Amino acid sequence: MRVLVTGAGGRLGQAVLPRLLDDGHTVRAMSRRPRTDPTVEWAVADLATGAGLAEAVAGVDAVLHLASATNTGRRTHQVDVLGTRRLAVAAGGAGVGHLVYISIVGVDRVPIPYYRHKLAAEQVVAAGPVPWSVLRATQFPQLLDDLLRASSRLGPMIGDRAILAQPVDPGEVAARLAARLTAGPLRGIEEYGGPEVLRFDEAVRAWRAARHSRRPLLPVRIPGRLGRALRDGGLVTTALPRGTRTWADHLADTYGGTGGR
Ligand SMILES: NC(=O)c1ccc[n+]([C@@H]2O[C@H](COP(=O)([O-])OP(=O)(O)OC[C@H]3O[C@@H](n4cnc5c(N)ncnc54)[C@H](OP(=O)(O)O)[C@@H]3O)[C@@H](O)[C@H]2O)c1
Repeated sequence: MRVLVTGAGGRLGQAVLPRLLDDGHTVRAMSRRPRTDPTVEWAVADLATGAGLAEAVAGVDAVLHLASATNTGRRTHQVDVLGTRRLAVAAGGAGVGHLVYISIVGVDRVPIPYYRHKLAAEQVVAAGPVPWSVLRATQFPQLLDDLLRASSRLGPMIGDRAILAQPVDPGEVAARLAARLTAGPLRGIEEYGGPEVLRFDEAVRAWRAARHSRRPLLPVRIPGRLGRALRDGGLVTTALPRGTRTWADHLADTYGGTGGR
């Protein structure tokens, strides 16, 4: 299959490209700026303006839509919602047979502004002219890691101990996306999470052990609907199958040793 990957230079994109090449697909990778990785053909296009999109989708069988302006407020609307519409229309015009959109577990339950845009983008995909699939994944461990690192720079780490998370390895999400591509349009939403549901304080304990850190965790309780949604498992899924790589595996890869197992 000839596949266009948007957001190909991002964290998930970098896991997806080798996976698709291994599966024997011909890959066109999309970015806003010219890139030189010679293993794939690069297309320059911008979802915020639509520039280059018609050329990017021309002649492809499927689109894996990973690009996102994460957490940038109005720009997120411009890129994720309106940009997804531009992409879907261009893909429809080019006769693309399958549009696969990556979303996040909890976009329909957890009141985070970024999630509102992701949910709206899902609806754009579902209402658009191209047969579609949505895969909602849980958080990548790197996101939790980045959050803990940033928080530990400020002194004691601050967090709501009872938030539930289910980190999933981006390489495993890439494999799931590749499987969906082969299976064809679902015209529906599937979820995919990591192997274990962790409380925030458990995740912090393992992280501190892996980093030999003694930073205390200063517990706070996130108030209101957001706090309730996060503590009630708004970010986790019971869907099967699940990934197999654990938070401890991520810590071991990143910091060495046993990763706090
Ligand atoms: N991170 C997580 O924990 C997580 C969990 C579940 C789902 N997801 C979803 O997975 C996707 C990828 O996440 P990620 O962590 O890999 O993100 P990332 O590293 O921030 O990559 C996002 C990509 O989007 C592209 N992009 C941004 N604005 C664009 C625009 N105007 N036009 C075209 N491309 C644009 C960027 O490409 P260039 O800079 O090369 O143009 C960038 O490579 C997102 O849709 C995210 O919502 C993430």
